[in-house]
Amino acid sequence: MTDHPILVTGGTGTVGSRVVSLLRERGHAVRVASRGAAERFDWQDRTTWDTALAGVRRMFVVPLDGTTLTRPFLARAADHGVERVVLLSGRGVDVPGYIEEDPNGLGETHVDGEDAVRGGTADWTILRPGWFAQNFSEGFFREAVLSGELRLPVGDGAASFVDAADIAAVGVAALTEDGHAGQIYELSGPRALTLAEAAAEISTATGREVRHVPLPPGQFTAELIAQGWPAADAEGFLLSLSPLERGLDEHLSDGVRRALGREPRDFAAFARDAARAGAWPARA
Ligand SMILES: NC(=O)c1ccc[n+]([C@@H]2O[C@H](COP(=O)([O-])OP(=O)(O)OC[C@H]3O[C@@H](n4cnc5c(N)ncnc54)[C@H](OP(=O)(O)O)[C@@H]3O)[C@@H](O)[C@H]2O)c1
Repeated sequence: MTDHPILVTGGTGTVGSRVVSLLRERGHAVRVASRGAAERFDWQDRTTWDTALAGVRRMFVVPLDGTTLTRPFLARAADHGVERVVLLSGRGVDVPGYIEEDPNGLGETHVDGEDAVRGGTADWTILRPGWFAQNFSEGFFREAVLSGELRLPVGDGAASFVDAADIAAVGVAALTEDGHAGQIYELSGPRALTLAEAAAEISTATGREVRHVPLPPGQFTAELIAQGWPAADAEGFLLSLSPLERGLDEHLSDGVRRALGREPRDFAAFARDAARAGAWPARA
């Protein structure tokens, strides 16, 4: 294995960085592929693909949302002799109406990417996580957490937030162990939380009040636009939150248990660890 580095696209992101760390801890050679990596890899510049793929036999693919570049990338990877692919997709990809409107092509990225992986020559494993817990500590809810108010148009919609550490652990199992080929692992945490409950867990972990303020959709986009967001981006964010508002991610999935033989990490453990790691420093 060590003669052939394991390629991780998005290897500096929320999931990819954790995959990279776990692989390195276990002694695997890893090649991080991103625009900021030592050897620049850009999904949108196909001249950078061969350098990333040279000598690779196994890879973890974090796709570029809003594109259907996974398919040509997999074809190029096959030319390089890649034998095993683990694809990060998303829960809801197979649920009609999960995304009501998709102006940014988010759903298409995963639908087409999964289809390309299944039709390719390499062994494959697909990960379909629900909403990441790390959206609160590293992603698009972090600023709101820091401000103390999650002003969101999701009402009392709940989601079974999954810890990116679990997503990465499943990915690494699929990359390095036998028995995961042809598996689709839907991944969630062990319970669904409303935004109010998630905010309460973060309050407990940080010792500072964080609360959920439910907003009507129009007020939500108006507030974003007032902060300088382009209207189309505000509308896109609203649409991406709709599955949460409609409770489509409330259910639990058994992928972590199936892949790893243990239960997924709870949101409270995520919040405690993120607080300890300094994800939400107090503002002066
Ligand atoms: N957040 C959720 O709740 C959720 C739920 C289900 C599924 N997902 C899926 O998870 C994926 C995102 O994973 P993530 O949150 O771990 O990613 P992330 O933290 O947003 O990081 C994105 C990664 O991709 C790299 N990247 C961005 N643009 C690139 C480009 N043009 N060329 C090459 N690399 C590029 C970034 O590095 P550089 O900036 O250095 O290039 C970074 O390593 C998406 O496909 C999303 O649909 C997310």
